[in-house]
Amino acid sequence: MEIIFATANRHKLKEAQSIAGTEFQLLSSASLGVTEDIEETGATLKENALIKAKYLWEKFGRPCFADDTGLEIDALEGRPGVYSARYAGEGCSFADNVQKVLKEMNGITNRGARFKTIVALITDGTPHFFEGCVEGTITETTSGEKGFGYDPVFKPAGYDTTMAEMSEEEKNRISHRGIAVTKMIEYLRQYNK
Ligand code: IMP
Repeated sequence: MEIIFATANRHKLKEAQSIAGTEFQLLSSASLGVTEDIEETGATLKENALIKAKYLWEKFGRPCFADDTGLEIDALEGRPGVYSARYAGEGCSFADNVQKVLKEMNGITNRGARFKTIVALITDGTPHFFEGCVEGTITETTSGEKGFGYDPVFKPAGYDTTMAEMSEEEKNRISHRGIAVTKMIEYLRQYNK
């Protein structure tokens, strides 16, 4: 079974394909010629994931899914949340976002946070949602060069390192996106019987 994944990110595609195994062939929307940015105008991760999945469903009428991820920081009332990609402003870099978080968290002792991913899957017109979550804390300074986004300041619960210090395999094993995609694949295995 082929499934279209709303992404142009090769790392995300590789991660999802390694979870999907050989039963499901994932095709990136970019490889099918979708070069436009699908506008994420939703107020929640779920709405944004659905907007992207629906866009592909309407365009291709084939099984497809999309994900949306946010970092929720308790002391910041869940921010940056749905605004994680552009927290420091339109066109900002990952480093700008990280610096903004560190500044806002300066002197705050409650450092609890989580990465949350929502996946929206459409195989027959009706969307199905899957959630993945990793609890952790925001560090005082950046550590590590791997990964992307907020990885250098996010330490998963039970680990001594930030996500930016983990190998790709280690991060994928525990990641919010990995958990959500695993749930989706388990659902598809049932549905495909
Ligand atoms: P997206 O929905 O996957 O595009 O993620 C939105 C934003 O959340 C990204 O621009 C990153 O800043 C952040 N983000 C998503 N996934 C991760 C991750 O695995 N580690 C660190 N930051 C992430």
